[in-house]
Amino acid sequence: MNNPQIITDIVRQAAAKARQEVMNEPEPALTGKLEWPVSCTVGPGLEGAIACETKIGYVNGTRGSLIYRGYDLFDLCAEATFEEVSFLLLHGNLPTRNELDTLSRHLQDYRFIPRTLRLIMGFPVQDMIPMAALRMGTNLMRQFQTERDQMSMAGSGGRQIASDEDSHSMETVPRGDQKAVFEFQERDANRPDPARIERAQAEAHGIGSCYHLIAGVASLTAAIARLRGGRLPIEPHPELGHAGNLLYMMTGKRPEPVEERVMDICLTLHADHGMNASTFAAMVVASTLSDIYFSVGAGIAALNGPLHGGANEAVIHTLREIGSPDGVAEWYRNARANKSKIMGFGHRVYKAYDPRARVLGPLAEYLVERSGREDMRRLLATAKELESRVVSELGEKKGIFPNVDFYSGIVYSCLGIAPDMFTPIFAVSRVSGWTARVLEYLKANRIFRPRAIYVGALDRPFQPLAERG
Ligand code: CMC
Repeated sequence: MNNPQIITDIVRQAAAKARQEVMNEPEPALTGKLEWPVSCTVGPGLEGAIACETKIGYVNGTRGSLIYRGYDLFDLCAEATFEEVSFLLLHGNLPTRNELDTLSRHLQDYRFIPRTLRLIMGFPVQDMIPMAALRMGTNLMRQFQTERDQMSMAGSGGRQIASDEDSHSMETVPRGDQKAVFEFQERDANRPDPARIERAQAEAHGIGSCYHLIAGVASLTAAIARLRGGRLPIEPHPELGHAGNLLYMMTGKRPEPVEERVMDICLTLHADHGMNASTFAAMVVASTLSDIYFSVGAGIAALNGPLHGGANEAVIHTLREIGSPDGVAEWYRNARANKSKIMGFGHRVYKAYDPRARVLGPLAEYLVERSGREDMRRLLATAKELESRVVSELGEKKGIFPNVDFYSGIVYSCLGIAPDMFTPIFAVSRVSGWTARVLEYLKANRIFRPRAIYVGALDRPFQPLAERG
């Protein structure tokens, strides 16, 4: 039961089944070089709008397949690690042994973020939404990483506004404008010159920052999970890879090889997905020549919503609310009557079964059996029943099938992860897609600036305040 080869076999079987089922689906002609300006039909929510060209990944929504840099997602899940996949997304090729060793060393170094953790522990992390804590933590990482900040810190003697500066005297009784506000600003004389700032900004968009973010977002996520459980963060394990370390730093237990392998596949599955909302958010921020830490912070903020990454947590709550397979019929009837969206189903691009769900479903089945837990068996049976009802009614008719978020929560639960950490784990993976897409876009950057069509009133006579009803 603990041989990771079992997991590889499950992925291969899921891939074979998927390929068999989509064999006769036509290939949509949506790839190829663009000549700008390009014409396209745009729907609400920018549906159909073309934002840029990319060589990073391709979502084929008709066939239900996903490609990273030309490689089929199923093959990458079965054969590669998340580290290899991150390198592939960022650099365009699978790494050689040397390149992989170098990347692993960078990630190992960057997993240590003690100063960021010290800062974050000054905040009430247990009372914050984990994604809010993660977004904040990413910004704190930025503070330490970018040369730009190091330069400006140098001017102020390296001091940080930190939790351990509670000892600063604060004004308790305001004594007029001059004294009531505590001034943290640096003096002009200490500011670095603009040319150095520009060089440093370029550095903050560099590959080193990408590695730092990939490693650090995982360490932060693990630390947030522990702090929320009233436990102190723990240091990464030097012998474990990225997925193993994520589990280890969260739970404090060295994961079984099977668990490590499953987490690794989950990270690969979520690493990139076309011009999704969080990727686009990250790219919009980068296009202003802000830096990549702020871009990733924007990605985290966008991912949090229940229509995007937040759906994985919502699914578990739905399944628990339904309670058992017997409860599905009535719950589903009510949901349809209320026109509610069923979490974990549907997708803007896929009108076929999401290939990521094709892998996660069987992995959930395997892990639930392995756990021997009755509550998990019931949860999975409820999920299966809900899937069969939604697909039989909305599958053919509307192209609504389970998406990546439907089974991932069951998988994470079996790995001992609490529901409120599901969406941060999505971010741990997607950070490699965000950073790869930002780097690619910046090579031929143009600030994003779509239009809105004004449909409001015109020519309204101004009313002074006293005359307004
Ligand atoms: N349950 C019931 N009906 C649905 C669902 C759903 N989950 N998703 C779409 N529909 C229906 C929708 O009501 C509409 O029907 P009609 O044409 O009769 O008005 C039709 O399908 C098209 O829906 P839409 O809202 O226009 O689709 P969209 O492309 O704007 O939204 C979506 C895509 C993912 C936001 C949506 O399917 C949804 O809200 N799903 C539930 C949340 C979810 O699982 N999100 C995770 C998405 S995958 C991972 C990720 O990106 O993070």
